Amino acid sequence: MVSMKLVSWLPVVVACVFFEFLVHSGSFAAFIPSDNYLVACGSSQNVTFQGKTYVPDSWHSSLTLKTGTPAVAKSNSSFPSPIYQSVRILSGISSYKFDIKQEGRHWIRLYFYPVPNSGQNLMSASITVATDDFVLLNNFTFKNYNGAYMFREYSVNVTSDTLTLFFIPSNNSVTFINAIEVVSIPDGVLPDQAITINPSIPISGLSELAFETVFRLNAGGPLITAENDTLGRIWENDAKYLHVNSSALNVSVNPASIRYPPSVTTEIAPNWVYASADVMGDANVANMNFNITWVFSVNQNFRYFVRVHFCDIVSKALNNLVFNLYINDDNAIESLDLSSFTGALNVPYYRDFVSNASVDSDTFTVSVGPDSTSDMTNATMNGLEIFKISNEVKSLDGLSPVESLLPRSSSKKNKTGIIIGSIVGAVVAFGLIGVCCCCLAAHRSKTNTHQAHPWLPLPLYGNSQTMTKMSTISQKSGTASCISLASTNLGRLFTFQEILDATNNASIIDGGNSGTDDDAADAATSAVFSQLVNPRGR
Ligand SMILES: *[C@@H]1O[C@H](CO)[C@@H](O)[C@H](O)[C@H]1NC(C)=O
Ligand SMILES: *[C@@H]1O[C@H](CO)[C@@H](O)[C@H](O)[C@H]1NC(C)=O
Ligand SMILES: *[C@@H]1O[C@H](CO)[C@@H](O)[C@H](O)[C@H]1NC(C)=O
Ligand SMILES: *[C@@H]1O[C@H](CO)[C@@H](O)[C@H](O)[C@H]1NC(C)=O
Ligand SMILES: *[C@@H]1O[C@H](CO)[C@@H](O)[C@H](O)[C@H]1NC(C)=O
Ligand SMILES: *[C@@H]1O[C@H](CO)[C@@H](O)[C@H](O)[C@H]1NC(C)=O
Ligand SMILES: *[C@@H]1O[C@H](CO)[C@@H](O)[C@H](O)[C@H]1NC(C)=O
Ligand SMILES: *[C@@H]1O[C@H](CO)[C@@H](O)[C@H](O)[C@H]1NC(C)=O
Ligand SMILES: *[C@@H]1O[C@H](CO)[C@@H](O)[C@H](O)[C@H]1NC(C)=O
Ligand SMILES: *[C@@H]1O[C@H](CO)[C@@H](O)[C@H](O)[C@H]1NC(C)=O
Ligand SMILES: *[C@@H]1O[C@H](CO)[C@@H](O)[C@H](O)[C@H]1NC(C)=O
Repeated sequence: MVSMKLVSWLPVVVACVFFEFLVHSGSFAAFIPSDNYLVACGSSQNVTFQGKTYVPDSWHSSLTLKTGTPAVAKSNSSFPSPIYQSVRILSGISSYKFDIKQEGRHWIRLYFYPVPNSGQNLMSASITVATDDFVLLNNFTFKNYNGAYMFREYSVNVTSDTLTLFFIPSNNSVTFINAIEVVSIPDGVLPDQAITINPSIPISGLSELAFETVFRLNAGGPLITAENDTLGRIWENDAKYLHVNSSALNVSVNPASIRYPPSVTTEIAPNWVYASADVMGDANVANMNFNITWVFSVNQNFRYFVRVHFCDIVSKALNNLVFNLYINDDNAIESLDLSSFTGALNVPYYRDFVSNASVDSDTFTVSVGPDSTSDMTNATMNGLEIFKISNEVKSLDGLSPVESLLPRSSSKKNKTGIIIGSIVGAVVAFGLIGVCCCCLAAHRSKTNTHQAHPWLPLPLYGNSQTMTKMSTISQKSGTASCISLASTNLGRLFTFQEILDATNNASIIDGGNSGTDDDAADAATSAVFSQLVNPRGR
């Protein structure tokens, strides 16, 4: 029986081995990011969304938080998606610090949803987010926003072994975050160089700038979600950006028929992007000589990085299709004959540009149109990405640099401060470790249920008010990756209280009950436990 079973499984085993061989020989090699933080902020359990598992922020570090009220809202069908079900509410300047294993570009993806039953008016909370160098979001509030939730994707080149994300509330208020991703991008996906338009000259130095993804389109094709993109990107259908709907006609082929040349990988764009396209439709016009134009609303004070993706899936023979690409009415590529670059049909090709918005307007247009030298009056586009480029003060939102948003003592520029601070901090820390150990031991004997990680109060920026928690290697993940949640508590005193989120009935234990917190915590043994700080010391 056993041998019979083995024999019947043999083809499967052989297939698996063969597949392994293919994977290792590079044919299907999928990118594995060195840094891959998927964080469900304020959550008490893992959250699975689009095939990815987001781990609670508190599991990455100690359970004790100097700021932040994790309001775990009840699961409710009105939530946009599971990723928005929990929220961490932050008071005072707070930060998440990520250890970075490999320098280079990283996605920073932020998810915001002003959870209604959190006990705070998150709709009017001001949201400002910065990295060590760049301002990502400045004084955003949902009150003025036409949408229930918000997803933002940024990309920064991390050139040190940590990345800190600062969350800055406005005066005496709170800010919040629902989920964070910090994920490596392979080198070569986002370049250092591109071509400007009018005049058409190469510019370099892009690798030192931050990008914000503002549009990413799969022309003529379906929505591609994160699980179908090796870099977790989302590509939306382009129809709603067409200037004239009838100007475009969608065409598609089997994604398996797309043949990547050595210069393009699935990390540039998945085959689904190249397998569908817009071509010139029969726009019911006498003159068949027209452009397909996409119109985007942008902020005219910024420059944009534009990547156009092409793949000739419509021609019957090589060199039939020759067309023009325009960006903001300027010629970007004249007489583009894809065959001359690819040497075959169904082969992906892309080009990068840097351009301002249209002159004196908050619009950005991209057009393709027929070229007079072509045999065929047609034009095509498969995918389009538009990224906002950080400005001269290293901001993607407004004219305030990081230094003006953070207290001066937090500024990274103050290098001697850091060094002196670190030395003093180390000395103080060693002293405090002893104290902490005693405290911890005492605390442990009271509450054995939590495997708390040690807190090392360390004046990282040479400022004794800055409390930075250095988390030890995460015992739960078992890897060397670590993330810590820190906050400058600005000398204010916080009262700790805890939320007990019973699955049916989320009830907040008031600050007056803090004496019974340990008992309450002991009762909530497993997933339904989190901690809360009352910033006003109610
Ligand atoms: C949460 O997800 C992480 C990462 O996938 C996994 O290692 C861990 O076992 C999960 N924990 C639970 C309780 O599901
Ligand atoms: C879901 O949440 C919304 C907004 O808070 C609320 O109005 C609605 O009553 C909730 N529905 C259920 C079934 O809890
Ligand atoms: C933030 O925006 C609000 C309006 O939404 C404004 O009243 C306030 O002054 C702004 N704060 C800062 C620091 O710019
Ligand atoms: C914040 O509060 C301080 C003191 O309460 C005040 O001096 C300052 O002007 C306030 N800043 C803003 C942007 O409201
Ligand atoms: C990141 O920046 C460093 C230093 O400027 C540079 O050497 C490196 O090529 C950049 N990486 C990427 C992926 O742009
Ligand atoms: C392609 O065009 C057809 C006919 O106009 C339309 O029904 C279909 O939804 C389009 N597909 C996409 C992905 O836009
Ligand atoms: C995305 O992936 C899912 C599951 O792997 C699959 O069912 C779906 O057809 C894919 N869609 C696209 C557009 O790639
Ligand atoms: C054009 O397409 C968009 C998106 O599919 C749709 O919202 C709009 O109503 C269409 N306009 C016309 C004139 O068909
Ligand atoms: C462009 O090519 C497509 C696919 O071959 C075709 O359906 C369409 O009619 C062509 N457009 C024009 C304007 O000839
Ligand atoms: C396409 O748009 C460009 C830029 O606005 C313009 O110069 C060109 O004449 C247009 N082509 C056609 C065929 O309308
Ligand atoms: C973009 O705009 C800026 C400021 O308005 C200007 O200095 C720069 O020359 C423009 N760049 C291009 C390529 O037009």
